[in-house]
Amino acid sequence: MKIAIGCDHGGIVLKNAVIKAVVELGHEYEDLGTYDNQSVDYPDYGEKVAVAVASGNADKGIVLCGTGIGISIVANKVRGIRCAHITNEFCAQMAAEHNNANVIAMGGRINTEEDAYNMTKKFLTTEFAGGRHATRVDKIMAVEKNNLK
Ligand code: RB5
Repeated sequence: MKIAIGCDHGGIVLKNAVIKAVVELGHEYEDLGTYDNQSVDYPDYGEKVAVAVASGNADKGIVLCGTGIGISIVANKVRGIRCAHITNEFCAQMAAEHNNANVIAMGGRINTEEDAYNMTKKFLTTEFAGGRHATRVDKIMAVEKNNLK
């Protein structure tokens, strides 16, 4: 798989740990920035990753900001994106297994690098369960269709 990764200055502390997990699993990645600690606006990077995933240029995305909140909100504004804001491994598992999330968001002021490494591995190694969860995910996408112009 190809994983698109993006962050702001608040999330950059987690980026290397995320990349390490992605590479260890044998996936490719594209680092869409930011690349240093200078203050930037998280919507710019959340959008880049979300568009990469929605357009098919990447299979999944990982976005990082201070809390993970702002950048997850941004990613979810792009049609086709199901971005889960996660803070632990159980959430990472459920995001994949139940929600079929195609992007996860984490916070550099919330979680450690070790947490981010473990959450990334859990998210990328967990399969969508389908069944009743597929019905619910279909309903999520119907809400998008009915409400996003
Ligand atoms: C930037 O200071 C901070 O607001 C951002 O990283 C993020 O936490 C927003 O949700």
